[in-house]
This record gives sequence, C-alpha cells and structure tokens, in this order.
Amino acid sequence: MTTVGMLGLGRMGSSMVRALAASGHDLVLWNRTTAVAEQLAKEVGGRVVVRPADVAAAADIAISMLADGRAVAAVYGGPDGLIAGARPGTVLVDCSTVPPAVIQGHEAAIRATGAGVLDAPVSGSVALAERGALTLMVGGTDTDLALARPALEALGSTIFHLGPLGTGAAMKLAVNTVIFGLNEAIAEALVLAEAAGIDRAAAYDVLAASAVGAPFVGYKRAAFLEPETTPVAFALDLAAKDLRLIADLGADVGVPLPQARTNLQVIELASAAGGGARDFSAVAEHLRGGRSEEEDATA
Ligand SMILES: NC(=O)c1ccc[n+]([C@@H]2O[C@H](COP(=O)([O-])OP(=O)(O)OC[C@H]3O[C@@H](n4cnc5c(N)ncnc54)[C@H](OP(=O)(O)O)[C@@H]3O)[C@@H](O)[C@H]2O)c1
Repeated sequence: MTTVGMLGLGRMGSSMVRALAASGHDLVLWNRTTAVAEQLAKEVGGRVVVRPADVAAAADIAISMLADGRAVAAVYGGPDGLIAGARPGTVLVDCSTVPPAVIQGHEAAIRATGAGVLDAPVSGSVALAERGALTLMVGGTDTDLALARPALEALGSTIFHLGPLGTGAAMKLAVNTVIFGLNEAIAEALVLAEAAGIDRAAAYDVLAASAVGAPFVGYKRAAFLEPETTPVAFALDLAAKDLRLIADLGADVGVPLPQARTNLQVIELASAAGGGARDFSAVAEHLRGGRSEEEDATA
C-alpha cells in the first residue's frame, strides 16, 4: 500500500484523510496548526510531522488541500517546504482551489527534484470527501497520474484527466461558476417562495424534486433549512476567494462572466453583513434581511 501524505487538515483535508484511512493507506500528516494534525492522528492513525519537507520525504504521494495560493506558496516553497523534501518517485498533488498559475509556477522546481506533480482540485464538499466520493479534475502527465491514481481513487472514483498541468485548476473554477450560480439561485427561489406564502421546507423539496434538482440542491438542504444547527461546509469568505479567482481567470482568457461577478457582489455583501465564516448558503439569510430593508424603505 502506498504511503500518502496530507498537508492542510481543514474541513476538506481532514475529511479526505478519513477516506484515505478507510481505504487502508499509511498516512503522514502535516498541518500549519500542528494540534489539528495530532488530534486527527489520534482518531484515524497516521504519523504527524512538523515540516512539509518531511511529508515529501516520507510519502509516495503528497496531497495538499490548502486555503489559497498564498498557503500553497508557503507550504511548497522554502527550506522546510514540500519541494525541498521531494525525490524521484514522489508525486506532489495539489487539490486546493487556486488559479492554474499557482501550480504551474512550482512545476520547474518540482521537476528538478525528479518528483512528479499534478493539480487535482475536487468537486463535492465535506460529506462527499469523507465517503471518498469526490469528483477530481486532474492536470498533468499520464505518468504522474498513473502513480498517484491509487491514492486519488480513495478520494473519488470519478477522475477526469483534462490535459497538462493547470487544466484541473481551470476546470475547477469553471465548475464553481455553476456552484455559486446554483447557490444564489436556490437562495433567491427559496426567499421568493417564502415571501409568497409557501412553507420553506416545502419549497425546498419542490426545488430538489424539480428539473433543477442537481446533487448540490440535495446535499445543501440542511444548510438552507437549518442554518443554525448545520456545520459550515464552505465558508462565505472561501466562496468570495473562489469568485475573485474566477473573475481573474475570465479576465485572463477574455470571457466576461456577468453571473459570477454578480454572485461575488452578493457573497461579499452577505459576508460583510453577518460574518464570512458562515456557510455560503447564508446568502439566503442575507436576502431575507435585504427584502425586509427594502420593504421598510418603500413602506
Ligand atoms: N469546503 C468545501 O466544501 C470545499 C469543496 C471543494 C474545494 N474546497 C477548497 O479546498 C481548500 C480547503 O478548503 P477547506 O474548506 O478545507 O478550508 P479550511 O477548513 O479553512 O482549511 C484551510 C487549510 O489551509 C491551511 N492554511 C491556511 N493558510 C495557510 C498558510 N498560510 N500556510 C499553511 N497552511 C495554511 C489551514 O491550516 P490551519 O489549520 O493552520 O489554519 C487549513 O489546514 C480551499 O482551496 C477550498 O476552496 C473546499
């Protein structure tokens, strides 16, 4: 069985570790806040190391799942970084949602060590990650994907190889334009139905059973209907980060993306009004508040 390293043990990274542990992989764990790694190792096993370089030295496949491009730069670079510990035979796989340029910028340094590299961002949130049921969008070479495949298959059986390094990251941003569109559309439809006198849960069930009943609509049910008691799966601030990346990629490749730009405005307003650590389904609460204010203004 391959030894798999995991760097970044936030909501997604820790859930992915559970799936890797369930599939019997030996684990090496690193997180910026070491206590998080130690707690997770107590629950699922695995060896905790103190530097990203130690992960690359010990693991066949080193998977990073980090907040943003700055975090990837901090973890990959420097004397203690992942690249410093990389060796021939290791494959470094970045699953973070970041612009294509982030992993492309590290490619030459990684290849110089003899290690392989892939970008493999994921679609699906915490619940799917824990079950090993994510969809992975991979950029990189066939050879590196063949080496990493046993570990990636523990994370999800739907693996798309889209082309050279960076294409996985670009595809992830394209998928997220739809996710944020759906999130905003559900919020608007729900608030509209409620305001027109329809029970919130009944309205949600109709959406889920209708032609728009995508898997996302199904698994966000609790977040939209019981926001106070449902754990955060994807924070508003991370959604804003992704929408800025989407807008930037659109600008780079000359595509205007009016829907994504509108979503960014709504997510930023929701974040400013109630805190960016809430789940991004909180745009519905924001729209309810907005409606009342508008009503007040016109009353
Ligand atoms: N949540 C979802 O539903 C979802 C779905 C698909 C993709 N994603 C993407 O997956 C990635 C992780 O998301 P998440 O929800 O797991 O976020 P999260 O819970 O906020 O975890 C972020 C992780 O990044 C680490 N980190 C942040 N800044 C760092 C830095 N400067 N140096 C080193 N480590 C740093 C954090 O370490 P500490 O513990 O030390 O803070 C933590 O391990 C993001 O790119 C997100 O867009 C998320």
